[in-house]
Amino acid sequence: MKKTMKLNNDLKIPRIGFGVYKIDENHMDPAVKVAEKAGYRSFDTAYIYKNEHELGEALKKGDIPREKLFITTKIWNDFQGYESTKEQFKASLERLGTDYLDLYLIHWPCEADGLFIETYKAMEELYKEGLIKAIGVCNFEQHHLEKLMAETEIVPAVNQIECHPYLSQQPLQDFCDQHDIKVTAWMPLMRGRGLFEDPVIEKLAEKYEKTPAQIILNWHLCHGRIVIPKSQTPSRIYENFDAIKFELRDKDVKKIDALNKNLRQGKHPDDVKIGTLK
Ligand SMILES: NC(=O)c1ccc[n+]([C@@H]2O[C@H](COP(=O)([O-])OP(=O)(O)OC[C@H]3O[C@@H](n4cnc5c(N)ncnc54)[C@H](OP(=O)(O)O)[C@@H]3O)[C@@H](O)[C@H]2O)c1
Repeated sequence: MKKTMKLNNDLKIPRIGFGVYKIDENHMDPAVKVAEKAGYRSFDTAYIYKNEHELGEALKKGDIPREKLFITTKIWNDFQGYESTKEQFKASLERLGTDYLDLYLIHWPCEADGLFIETYKAMEELYKEGLIKAIGVCNFEQHHLEKLMAETEIVPAVNQIECHPYLSQQPLQDFCDQHDIKVTAWMPLMRGRGLFEDPVIEKLAEKYEKTPAQIILNWHLCHGRIVIPKSQTPSRIYENFDAIKFELRDKDVKKIDALNKNLRQGKHPDDVKIGTLK
């Protein structure tokens, strides 16, 4: 399996990135150090994770030059709007200690608040100025994407959505595939939460001599998704990165597909408004 894929503007993105949600100031440096050593080059943060500064500092301490890194962050719900998106973008750059972003995403559509179009238009301008290499969204359902694409110029490069074997999101994935929008799975491992003990996953782990986490991550990769598992445990950081080193057979991919229960761990995007999530 290839380690990178091309986004719809030809930008290369690593297929396995490092999610840093819940990694605090005490754990960021060691986690990033191990991640870089394991081979991760892509790091996914957000304003709301309150660790952009810590991530930026940790990356500066490492040996990987900026141009070899792929840094993603997101505009938080409370800051949607044309002017505040531009201001917040600059604030994120400062916290991260970088002068450009590889990927900037709208964190939630918050459709009821009616601001995601102007938010995205501000991002399009930043993209055209060369300050962002690719722009996209998170948690957009098909109807949000249709509205966005009808009213803006640049097709999002990425839609980052909750996705794991119990919430496979195949119809949304199909829509994204049709429009050349790459799907990134957030919470790709469902944070453990009983998924590793699923008999189908356990059996496949035995068959391939891989861990349950590697089986699940490989399933995502087989579907053409990007994954951004989070771990601050050194052995798991390596384990997750190594999930790219084999390939499930088609019939085994289908066995995992059959586990879907449309079971969401996070909020449904239609239920999130500005102020709902803190
Ligand atoms: N766009 C959005 O709305 C959104 C929402 C949520 C998350 N995200 C992004 O997606 C990333 C990943 O999602 P997530 O952190 O929610 O969930 P996740 O990656 O599915 O799971 C992380 C949890 O699983 C454990 N874990 C990781 N690898 C493991 C392994 N190999 N074996 C056993 N346990 C393992 C971690 O524990 P340890 O750390 O203790 O090892 C941690 O508790 C986030 O960090 C964030 O960057 C985006």
